[in-house]
Amino acid sequence: MCGIVGYVGDGEAARFLLEGLTRLEYRGYDSAGIAVYDGEKIRIEKSVGRLSELKKKIAGDMPKGVCGIGHTRWATHGRPSDTNSHPHADCAGDFVVAHNGIIENYMTLKEKLIEKGHRFVSETDTEVLPHLLEEVYDGDFESSVRKVVTMIEGSYSLVFMSRRDPGVLICTKQDNPLIIGLGSGENFIASDIPAIINHTRRTYIMSDGEIAVVKKDSVWVTNNQGEPVTKKVFEVNWNAEAAEKGGYEHFMLKEIHEQPKAVRATLSSRFAKDGSSVVFDELKWNVDFLKSIDRIFIVACGTAYHAGLVGKYYIEKMARIPVECDIASEFRYRSPIVDDRTLTIVVSQSGETIDTLAALKEAKRLGSRTLAVTNVVGSSIARDADQVVYTWAGPEIAVASTKAYTTQLIVMLLIAIYMAELKKSMPEARIRELIEGAKNIPAQISETLEDTEPIKTFAKRYGFNEDVFFIGRSLDYDVALEGALKLKEISYIHAEAYAAGELKHGTLALVKEGIPVIALATQRSVYEKTLSNIKEVKARDAIVIGIAEKGDEELSKYADHVIYVPEADELLIPLLAVVPLQLLAYYAALTRGCDVDKPRNLAKSVTVE
Ligand code: F6R
Repeated sequence: MCGIVGYVGDGEAARFLLEGLTRLEYRGYDSAGIAVYDGEKIRIEKSVGRLSELKKKIAGDMPKGVCGIGHTRWATHGRPSDTNSHPHADCAGDFVVAHNGIIENYMTLKEKLIEKGHRFVSETDTEVLPHLLEEVYDGDFESSVRKVVTMIEGSYSLVFMSRRDPGVLICTKQDNPLIIGLGSGENFIASDIPAIINHTRRTYIMSDGEIAVVKKDSVWVTNNQGEPVTKKVFEVNWNAEAAEKGGYEHFMLKEIHEQPKAVRATLSSRFAKDGSSVVFDELKWNVDFLKSIDRIFIVACGTAYHAGLVGKYYIEKMARIPVECDIASEFRYRSPIVDDRTLTIVVSQSGETIDTLAALKEAKRLGSRTLAVTNVVGSSIARDADQVVYTWAGPEIAVASTKAYTTQLIVMLLIAIYMAELKKSMPEARIRELIEGAKNIPAQISETLEDTEPIKTFAKRYGFNEDVFFIGRSLDYDVALEGALKLKEISYIHAEAYAAGELKHGTLALVKEGIPVIALATQRSVYEKTLSNIKEVKARDAIVIGIAEKGDEELSKYADHVIYVPEADELLIPLLAVVPLQLLAYYAALTRGCDVDKPRNLAKSVTVE
């Protein structure tokens, strides 16, 4: 995820900026840059790659000055490169901006600015910001920034610096974190607390829509109406390690809680203004393209494979194209029936998983068209595939994948709706219904995360069992597979997922008194069937923890405990049902004293076969 820092005081700005960015390195990034006002002009230095590259570049010739901004970039719009790195400047080099998040309407703004003669050098959405400021600047830095903010849509945290207003930084935010560190004779801006923790522990936490004018000895905050806001000082009492995790005990828990934001970001810019259809600027498919495809393969590993299973269900249900979902390490060696009428979709958070990359190459060799769904811009898989759709989950640090999974599900849903629209295989009213439902998902995930106490209790109570079964039908089965994988990999409990209807074909023999069975019963179309499978395990004295929709009054009659998730469309509910399973795995691992973020024998990115 991108990182922002800003400094204004009497000290050497560049020194703080580099140190602050170093402290944000844990968040992941692909390039870095700083801009410092030297009393005459703003000097910008940027470099793709690690911060050490930037440090090397300016060693012996550090930008001099007491006011500056810096940024580590995690690419979204445009590949990682020196040019695409932040800070970005206007035509005259008078204004610079560092930005986290996404400006959704940047294309329209960019076209208008180009018509007015502005020259753009990067592929980023961010670059519209300094040009907009250049366009509207009327001598009053604060009111000009305010004007810019009214013109943009999206999620962001922003810091602006102006050559015409020395010693002033202006920052604002919407749905992205931003803090101000209060020093004495100096002040700091950062997207995250670790960047400033060595300098001050007194902070203002910025709220959405607030604008702060930060000088070396004052910080003036107003709301989006321009009215002054009296901020309360938040004293940070975390150590540096806790600060990196945003106060959460582990990255995994932080990332579970980041899901509403990650899903919202992934949905952003992907709907038509009137909400009637899905827009994929990056695909621009038409009906002829879809007619030229007679089968789809979805190929991936681990959690991404589980997301692919849901994708198969979505595409077949909505677009009525046959889909096969395969594990990459199997696909690549089994002579799959692939030709130029095949579309192969590879799914990978890291974009570097060797089996998935090899499967992609194999599909291409056999003549398939290819599409990558990945979270890392410029990754090997993104570069190799014909087309790419990015999930915008931000970097995932915990080995166990959580927010990558939910964002992959959302992308799969959008792709399926997009195909159904082109093929006219689903009524328009149903498309609208699903789009409306998808827009609610971030808020509903937040709701699911509100009360984790019952999950902690179950994890404590059942955390030491050696075997756990997960059952479900239809999409519930796909989510059960992911729930079982989460539990296995971080708590080392033997967990298996079964299609509930399969139990009696063998596995039921293992079910005995006291065995926990996590039963997902969110799919209305197979609800009664699932219920009878739950009764089967209950009759063998298993302990059943059910996952159901709010309002379900039936399941509690047969299950020992029920965890409820908000009511949602049957197709969307996997995005909610997986959350308690992630939390159950997390708290079970805690109970067992496991290393949650770095489970034994596992690596975040599997780049060897
Ligand atoms: C499980 C997990 C792994 C990955 C798998 C694929 O929590 O993270 O199963 O999903 O190794 O990784 P990517 O998505 O990077 O290709």
